[in-house]
Amino acid sequence: MASKPEAPAQEVPPAADPDAPTTAPAKQSVDPWNVAGEVGDDGKVKAIDYNKLVEEFGTKLIEDALLQRFEQVTGHKPHRFMRRQIVFSQRDLEVILDRHEKGEPFFLYTGRGPSSDSMHIGHTQIFDFCKWLQDVFDVPLVIMLTDDEKFLFSEKRTVEEVIGYSQENCRDIISIGFDPEKTFIFSDYEFMGGAFYRNVTRFAKLVTYNTARAVFGFDESSNIGKIHFTSIQGATAFATTFPHIFGEDEKRVASIPCLIPCAIDQDPYFRLTRDCAARLKYAKPSLIHSRFLDALQGPGSKMSASIDSSAIFMKDTPKQIKDKINKYAFSGGQETAELQREKGGDPAVDVSYQYLQFFMDDDEELRKIGQDYKEGKLLTGELKAICIKYLQEYVAAFQERRTKATDDRVKLFMSVRPLKWEGNPKVKRT
Ligand code: TRP
Repeated sequence: MASKPEAPAQEVPPAADPDAPTTAPAKQSVDPWNVAGEVGDDGKVKAIDYNKLVEEFGTKLIEDALLQRFEQVTGHKPHRFMRRQIVFSQRDLEVILDRHEKGEPFFLYTGRGPSSDSMHIGHTQIFDFCKWLQDVFDVPLVIMLTDDEKFLFSEKRTVEEVIGYSQENCRDIISIGFDPEKTFIFSDYEFMGGAFYRNVTRFAKLVTYNTARAVFGFDESSNIGKIHFTSIQGATAFATTFPHIFGEDEKRVASIPCLIPCAIDQDPYFRLTRDCAARLKYAKPSLIHSRFLDALQGPGSKMSASIDSSAIFMKDTPKQIKDKINKYAFSGGQETAELQREKGGDPAVDVSYQYLQFFMDDDEELRKIGQDYKEGKLLTGELKAICIKYLQEYVAAFQERRTKATDDRVKLFMSVRPLKWEGNPKVKRT
């Protein structure tokens, strides 16, 4: 029986061309290549409306009941990203929790497009979250480096350049603290072939040009590599792509699903993948979506790897971090200390406060900071100082781990090898 496509009917959006000059559209637009908030009447870009995305994409908000179920099944308090709606949306997360409860296998899948060799704090969030999930579930994690994608979707980059970025990005990703026994990192250029390529073609055969155009907005001038790339990112969600991890028994392995933690802009790929999975009789991937970390310039702006003042980079020194926050971090506070004491600030638009929502684990401490800021008890400079301390510690710890991410470690994580994991300790492994 042909399964009904999951992608909601929508108008064909304009061609996705990441090299086109980015004139902000009037309406909010979020897809794998563009993330832009709506432009208000005052000409300013508004913050992304995430609830609207959930509606548009047909995903589900992560409700309190699901968080409770998560805690009950895993015995862990949900991660601060889940408690604070930073990770706010999902598809079939219950399926994964049910499997964990029964001790049935699944894996985690995430990825990164290696578009440059300088990763910033916006890039590392999803990997930190994956590491936490991996610690909680004790399952294999595959991390895809889409060097081919970053070649195909750019006018400028060469193949050699993106392959270099894959290696450097792998070093950064290792430095998040992943366990090599449970984590496989691969570059598409290196790993393509064998079982992976077989699934890529199975996927490609199910997707017509019409569908790809409707989901991604390609047009007649899009190169054919872009259109095909969908099958590569999609086929990675199938356990049969990794016989070195799950074994050769295709029939058994086909039923192993993955959970994909990703930023919400990647959802179109996986909407399509879920349709294809059903038709191939493979397990459908589940998803858990995060929002974006705003640029220093505030809500509606986006961190850019090529604009130093837009982001805190993982290579920044403590002094650079301090200077950037003090100089660029958009403040929801008042013009002067006197006015701040009198009227208070607005944490909802304040970048330092937003970053603390990502980095500070203590809910009560965070609540108090927000409250004090609103009431004018806390000044902008004081709020910034707290944020600076958290970011300096985060980046320094990362840099310390990075000194140990040698070429040999990179090779180890990227080598095709079996992994070892236990799954739910309370249940005998099936
Ligand atoms: N396309 C993503 C990017 O450009 C990379 C990616 C591949 C990915 N597979 C993924 C991201 C799975 C999240 C989950 O960054």
